[in-house]
Amino acid sequence: MTLQPSVAPMTLTTVVASTRPGRVGRSVADWFALRASEDDRFESHTVDLYELALPFFDEPHPPALRQYTKSHTRAWSRIVDASDAFVFVTPEYNGCFPAPLKNAWDYLAVEWQHKPAAFVSYGGVSAGTRAAQMGKQVVANLRMLPIGPTVSIPFVNGLVEGGDFRPGKIHEAAAEQVLDELARTARVMGRLRRGTY
Ligand SMILES: Cc1cc2nc3c(=O)[nH]c(=O)nc-3n(C[C@H](O)[C@H](O)[C@H](O)COP(=O)(O)O)c2cc1C
Repeated sequence: MTLQPSVAPMTLTTVVASTRPGRVGRSVADWFALRASEDDRFESHTVDLYELALPFFDEPHPPALRQYTKSHTRAWSRIVDASDAFVFVTPEYNGCFPAPLKNAWDYLAVEWQHKPAAFVSYGGVSAGTRAAQMGKQVVANLRMLPIGPTVSIPFVNGLVEGGDFRPGKIHEAAAEQVLDELARTARVMGRLRRGTY
C-alpha cells in the first residue's frame, strides 16, 4: 500500500491476553502483528500480558485521576497513551475473555479513550466469539470504539503447528478487514483526540 507523504503511520498495539504456560495466544498474536507490520498504515507493536506482568489492580486512586503510584502502572500508561489503535487477541475461558485482560483494561481510563479496538478471538466451536462480545462491552465502557470486523478462529489448537499459527484464507481476509477498519477509524479518532476535526 502506498502512503501519502504527509500521513504518518499510526501505532497499532496487539495485546496478547492469554498468560498461561502452553498458550496458543502468543502464536496467534504474532501472526496478526506480522500482518500489521506489513501494512504501511501502521507501526505495529505487541504487548504480551504475561511479559507485562501487571499485578492484580493495586492503585489506591481511580484510574481516571491518573494519580498513579506504581511504576508498572506508569509504564502501562505510557504504552497505551502512545497507541492509536488496539487489537486484543483473546481466548475464550468459560464463555468470557481471561481475567488478566480485564485487569489490564481496569488499570487505566483516559489512555484508552477515543481509540478503536478490534478483537481476534479463538477457542473451540464458538471461536471465542462470546469473549469478543463481552470484551466489546468493556471497551465501550472505556470510551473506546469497538469496531465491527473481527477475526474469529474456531478449533484453534488444530491450527498451531510447531509454535506457529497457520491461518486459513478466511483468517487472512478477516485480518485485512480489521486492518482496513482500524485505519479508517484510528485516523479520524486521532483528530478527535487532538481537537483538529
Ligand atoms: C480455563 C479454560 C476455560 C476454557 N473455556 C473455553 C470456552 O468457554 N470456550 C472455548 O471455546 N474454549 C474454552 N477453553 C479452551 C480454549 O479455547 C483453548 O484451551 C485455547 O487454547 C486457550 O487459549 P490459550 O492457549 O491462548 O490460553 C478453555 C480453556 C481453559 C484453560
